[in-house]
Amino acid sequence: MAGKNDKTGKVLTMETLNPNIKIMQYAVRGPIVARATQLEKELEKGAKKHFEKVVRANIGDCHATGQKPMTFIRQVVALCTYPDLLMKNPDFPADAKEHAKKLLAGCKGGSIGSYSASSGIDVIRKDIAAYITNRDGHPSDPEDIHLSTGASDGIKSILSLVLTGKLGKDRAGIMIPVPQYPLYTAAIAEFNAFAIPYYLDEDNHWGLDLKELKRAIDTARPECKPRAIVVINPGNPTGQVLTRENIEGIIKFAKQERLFILADEVYQHNVYAAGSKFFSFKKILMELGAGYNNMELASFMSASKGFMGECGYRGGYCEVLNLDPDVKLQYLKSISAKLCPPISGQIVIDVVVSPPKPDDPSYKLFQEEKTEVLSQLAKKAALVTKTFNSIEGVKCNEVQGAMYAFPRIFLPEKAIQAAKEKNQSPDSFYCFQLLEETGICTVPGSGFGEKPGTYHFRTTILPPLAEIEKLLKTFSEFHLKFMKQYK
Ligand SMILES: Cc1ncc(COP(=O)(O)O)c(C=O)c1O
Repeated sequence: MAGKNDKTGKVLTMETLNPNIKIMQYAVRGPIVARATQLEKELEKGAKKHFEKVVRANIGDCHATGQKPMTFIRQVVALCTYPDLLMKNPDFPADAKEHAKKLLAGCKGGSIGSYSASSGIDVIRKDIAAYITNRDGHPSDPEDIHLSTGASDGIKSILSLVLTGKLGKDRAGIMIPVPQYPLYTAAIAEFNAFAIPYYLDEDNHWGLDLKELKRAIDTARPECKPRAIVVINPGNPTGQVLTRENIEGIIKFAKQERLFILADEVYQHNVYAAGSKFFSFKKILMELGAGYNNMELASFMSASKGFMGECGYRGGYCEVLNLDPDVKLQYLKSISAKLCPPISGQIVIDVVVSPPKPDDPSYKLFQEEKTEVLSQLAKKAALVTKTFNSIEGVKCNEVQGAMYAFPRIFLPEKAIQAAKEKNQSPDSFYCFQLLEETGICTVPGSGFGEKPGTYHFRTTILPPLAEIEKLLKTFSEFHLKFMKQYK
């Protein structure tokens, strides 16, 4: 059928473009962010607004909001990048030089300009396995470790393994939390798989309710072949940290339903609330023992989050357990077609998993910098939770971990109607007004999914403390004005 754009002579028009790309959405960089960029340009040109600058609270990009890089990470990266510094520059500490030499020895030709093996540099895979062994108290095999271009790439590689290659009711069903980090819905759309949403329980600290998992899979079964379950812990956008019991329940559910588990654990260093503790899925799987410790599990980690926040290096890895040996060969083949993840990203993740030890010259500074970042985040998590809950018409679960708050906003009927007239979801309408009036850029809850009839937004807790304090005050004034206007 001739499309309306065929006259352009383009091979690709909106009619011929892969439909999976057209339906794919990624709210974290959606229309509201485009508007924020436009506002910044208008401000630069001298336009008068109610605010002096746009506050980007929409994306978990630590360095973009002012966080300083960890000195030791950058020293090792610098030395690996320009090895002449090893000989010529006395300013670098001895342990940074030793670390760089060890990594360079693992690079082909001693240069980070060469490709590595597709699963990453061997010595780094060993360091990661040692980190996991130490974290969980259960051995990790370097052969199960595969580095990736950020966690995103690792997640997509594993998701592509569980696809069925079929359409309609035979498509792969992937269970995803709602609210979820939109990489999952975007990848599922791109792969033409079927998303099986399960709702996190807002009234129970965004925990996972096993009855809800069962409801979700039973509802979806006529539509797809359920193959995998995704769990994000600590949660994005919800900021919850799952209890050990909750994780046990999920593993048992996955076993009963024969599901591959994808454990997104990129925020494993970001746990703040008293009484909250990070348990890896691997650890619990091992401790459940026979019948469980042979289940297929992929767990993901990233250089982008934690205390390092090095998103731009695109470092990440996954530990993949219990693959059928033939499937493992196919997996290795599939990642080999991408050659290898960036070597500089691999270096960053190596420093994260094998930081300076207590007797090393860089130990003290490393610990000071790490503690400063994490303690500031903990302060901001507590402040944000407390302040949101003090505002009428806003309710927020405790930010136990990760880098976000996901408050619920109770919008008046008149605001919901006004949104409908503008063809916007009520929370988009609210977030757009917040941006226009205050310069605060957040992401509407609808971009992550939410229970029908509930409205939320996501804000990061990344801007510096003084800026967050100001942001919360401005937000509170905006919210009360908005509620009065639409009462
Ligand atoms: C839950 C979750 N998983 C994965 C990622 C992707 O991280 P990366 O930068 O390592 O690709 C993010 C990024 O925000 C995230 O929040």
